[in-house]
This record gives sequence, structure tokens and C-alpha cells, in this order.
Amino acid sequence: MTEHSTGRGTAVITGAASGRGIGRALAGRLAAAGWHLGLLDIDPAVEKAAAEIRAEHGVGAVGAVADIADPAAVDAAVTAFEAELPPVTGLVNSAGVSSPVSFFDVDLATWERVMRINATGTFVVSKRVVPGMAERGHGRVVSLGSTAMQNGGGTYSKSTYAASKGAIEAFSRALALEVAPRGVTVNVVAPATIDTDIMGGRITDDRKPAFVSQLPVGRLGTTRDVAALVEFLLGEDAGYITGATYNINGGLRIG
Ligand SMILES: NC(=O)c1ccc[n+]([C@@H]2O[C@H](COP(=O)([O-])OP(=O)(O)OC[C@H]3O[C@@H](n4cnc5c(N)ncnc54)[C@H](O)[C@@H]3O)[C@@H](O)[C@H]2O)c1
Repeated sequence: MTEHSTGRGTAVITGAASGRGIGRALAGRLAAAGWHLGLLDIDPAVEKAAAEIRAEHGVGAVGAVADIADPAAVDAAVTAFEAELPPVTGLVNSAGVSSPVSFFDVDLATWERVMRINATGTFVVSKRVVPGMAERGHGRVVSLGSTAMQNGGGTYSKSTYAASKGAIEAFSRALALEVAPRGVTVNVVAPATIDTDIMGGRITDDRKPAFVSQLPVGRLGTTRDVAALVEFLLGEDAGYITGATYNINGGLRIG
């Protein structure tokens, strides 16, 4: 059986260092399913995450420290993955930053920082990884959008973040069209209010009721909720899904 016929070659996940984050939860889930992993993050804790994955699941896992918006650093990281792991068949662009600054208070430096990491970073990593997928005739790309890009901002983040995530969605749709004939799918997942540390730190017990009150399902989302959806979209059975956005928001936004 070839690697991609099992759907379990190597998946590159950006933003996999944060212990309570979506990328790290996804890494554990994919490793349990037999995927090999290239983990990329600006936080050196990514190397520890890769070591834990190797020890726990016995799959190949390489951690590399890189800023996703720095093409040279991304190239070095992906080159290291390619040297040590089976061909990359999955890419998950999960690294990102939030921004709660309102339009009236935001300055150009903040706008450029958020756009650079979220939008440019997704482009840079895709640009490095997707051509190899197209060449091999198989690939799955999943990028993290947000309800904020659909809803005029999020429960926490404002216009700058919403714009950066809107750019990811528009880019993903256009990329999906370009690479579809080469066997590569590109999709977006749009979560809201997942219990991680991205919204200015842990959602503490006193902050929780305010968030939960906006959610029809009556609870915060978990990294497991998101990881399960992404795992499906990376799999062999998701080959007819491309250019799609999947809401995963507890009913905060419908449609
Ligand atoms: N948590 C939520 O409620 C929520 C909602 C909607 C969308 N999202 C999106 O999901 C993704 C993951 O978020 P999370 O909640 O797991 O956040 P998190 O803060 O737990 O993890 C984000 C990771 O990205 C890394 N990172 C940040 N800047 C980077 C850079 N320049 N280069 C490389 N790595 C970088 C961080 O070090 C961290 O490990 C983000 O794109 C976020 O916008 C999260």
C-alpha cells in the first residue's frame, strides 16, 4: 500500500507548540492514527512536543522552530521534515495570533504584524509545501479561519484579526481551484470560542459564563472538537471536498 492510499504519510502542522492549543491536540490525534508529523512553531517548546509524540505514539515526529512568515526559516524546517520523514501529504496551517484591539485604537504596526503572521504565514508555508504535493499528485491542506472572518469580528478579536482570517479563506478558495486538478484539496475550518490560550490567556472560570452565554450548545468548544474535524478533512475519504469552509462554533453562527 502506498503512503497516500492509507492517508497516513506525513502531516505538517504549524502552531503545534502550545500545550493547550489546537495544533498540539491535533498532533496527538494524528499520531495516534499513524501519521508522521512535522511540527513547526516559533516557540522552541515545539521540539519537546515532537519528542513527546515520538515517545507516546512511536511515529516519526520532527519539531522545528520557525516563524511561519519567514520563507528561509520555513524552508529550513520543511527541508528537515523531508529529510527525516515520509512524503508530506497533509498540511495544517494552525499557527496564528489574535488581536482584541478595536479599529479606533489599532495602529499600522499591529495590523501588519497580525496580517503578516496569519495571512502571509499561511501563504509562505503553503508555498513551500503544496508544490511537492501537486508533483506527487496527492495532498490535503486545512487552514484555520475563524468565525470572526464571517461575523464581523469574534467574541474576543476585532477587525484586524477578522481581516487576516478573511484573507486565509479567500486565498484557500483560490488555491483550491488551482490545485484541484493535481490531486490536492484545500479547505478552511472556522472555529469559535475553543478553550485554548489564544484569547489573551486561559479562559478562566470567571470569564467562562460570558463566553458560554453566547453559545447555543451551552459549552465552549474543545481542541478535540476541532482536531476530529481536521483529521477527517486530511483523510482519504475527504477527496471530494475542496474550497469549503467548515463552521465549528457551537451554533454561534449558522449558515
Ligand atoms: N481558540 C479559538 O477559540 C480559536 C477560534 C478561531 C480560530 N482559531 C485559530 O486556530 C488557530 C490555533 O489557535 P489556538 O487557539 O490553538 O492558539 P494557541 O495560541 O494555543 O496556538 C497558536 C500557536 O501558534 C504559534 N505561533 C504564533 N505565531 C507564530 C509564528 N509567527 N510562527 C510560528 N508559530 C507561531 C504559537 O507559538 C502557538 O503555539 C489559530 O490560527 C487561531 O486563530 C482559534
